[in-house]
Amino acid sequence: MKLEAVTIFPEYFDSLKLSLLGKAQSAGLIEIAIHDLRAFADGNHKSVDDTPYGGGAGMVMKAEVWGAALDPILSSKSELIILTPAGKKFNQAMAQELSQAEQIVFACGRYEGIDSRVTDHYRAQGISVREVSIGDYVLGGGEVAAMVMIEAITRLIPGVLGNPESLAEESHNEDGFLEYPNYTKPANWRGIEVPEVLLSGNHGEIAKWRATQAIKRAQENQ
Ligand code: ADE
Repeated sequence: MKLEAVTIFPEYFDSLKLSLLGKAQSAGLIEIAIHDLRAFADGNHKSVDDTPYGGGAGMVMKAEVWGAALDPILSSKSELIILTPAGKKFNQAMAQELSQAEQIVFACGRYEGIDSRVTDHYRAQGISVREVSIGDYVLGGGEVAAMVMIEAITRLIPGVLGNPESLAEESHNEDGFLEYPNYTKPANWRGIEVPEVLLSGNHGEIAKWRATQAIKRAQENQ
């Protein structure tokens, strides 16, 4: 899978070299390319934004600059993701769907967002364009949101996770979440004992206890 991001802050993405994603790149499972939006801006000031038509606060990112950056990297097989707090909410099902893609391009907007014609234009070209939000809060820009999505999507690609059983275990659960409480040694920490059933070696009872705890926890955290 090829993952690309267009941003005015390419350095944000430096952390993708670490840990599992760094290894996945070295192993050739994924390829990551980060593009500096400002390289596609014209004029002395290399300006990427302008005031909004219709007035109002803030600045809007210019369609021409985005078009120049996106044209060379998009094709009919691309998934273009435009990060915006007004987008469709990202979840595990969307991560699953996107983990099948050949190429995903993340457009990281700043300020009040990207000129809406960018979405319209590429949709009219037959490219899959999704406006996506990672949650009901407003970030300074789409960079962190793109990294959240990249981490959630790439760990679903076969070979990316060190232990493939982790994925298999998640998939037993409808939402793909591991919800029961976990414990490791020592059995007593600061006077708190690990639940006895987990030390019993009775796998049937352990599975039952975990299922009950997962439901209880999900209800408490609603
Ligand atoms: N840009 C600003 N806030 C965002 C959010 N919640 N999700 C995606 N992109 C964003």
